[in-house]
Amino acid sequence: MLSAGEIKQSLGNYAAQLIQPDTIIGIGTGSTAEYFIRALARRVQEGLKCSCVPTSRTTKALAEELGISLTTLNEVSKIDMDIDGADEIDPQCCLIKGGGGALLQEKMVAAASYQLIIIADSSKLVNQLGKFPLPVEVIPYGWKQVQRNIIAANNISVQLRLKDASPFVTDHGHYILDCSFTSIKNPEQLSRELNNIPGVVENGLFIQMAHSVIIGFEDGRIETIGG
Ligand code: 5RP
Repeated sequence: MLSAGEIKQSLGNYAAQLIQPDTIIGIGTGSTAEYFIRALARRVQEGLKCSCVPTSRTTKALAEELGISLTTLNEVSKIDMDIDGADEIDPQCCLIKGGGGALLQEKMVAAASYQLIIIADSSKLVNQLGKFPLPVEVIPYGWKQVQRNIIAANNISVQLRLKDASPFVTDHGHYILDCSFTSIKNPEQLSRELNNIPGVVENGLFIQMAHSVIIGFEDGRIETIGG
């Protein structure tokens, strides 16, 4: 049986093999994406040419340290393939993302990509999204108003994400509200409703964005859903 780290490593290695020469690649955020970035760096050292768009400051710093060539979303019209992790994946390959707080940039990079490929261990598979608290990125101004709004509309608990007892601040200077929906029956509708609240920047529901999901299992199997 593989450990959680070994599963993520095998997924990272597998995804790095999907990268074609002379392409533009979105590089995700989180522990699974990190294994992919490290495996990609090994391919780059062996001579692979590609240019990468990072989805967070942390990912940018890691890629720079590993000698991966970087570009920005402004400089490219389209990204060939985006490899990222996820917090929950339903049978339609709808996702909850943003556990690492990078959902805004992750969604922008995914939306600019021909293919979003998700790599995740099998613990991320669910029948219905919502057990993982849905991250909603909000501007700091009046964030309690947004919190009250989400609570009133859904009768759920909504927590401001903290780091060292202070609000967690995203790469773009925003806060995160973690919304405990428990089960999300209509992700599309919820995503629209959340994004309609003044002060909400983006939410962590990724609907019909993933081209395929590559799942790693404890027994070493790797299976692809969709694609
Ligand atoms: C960061 C994300 C990550 O992709 C997600 O949290 C999964 O992370 P990990 O691979 O560490 O479980 O959305 O904002």
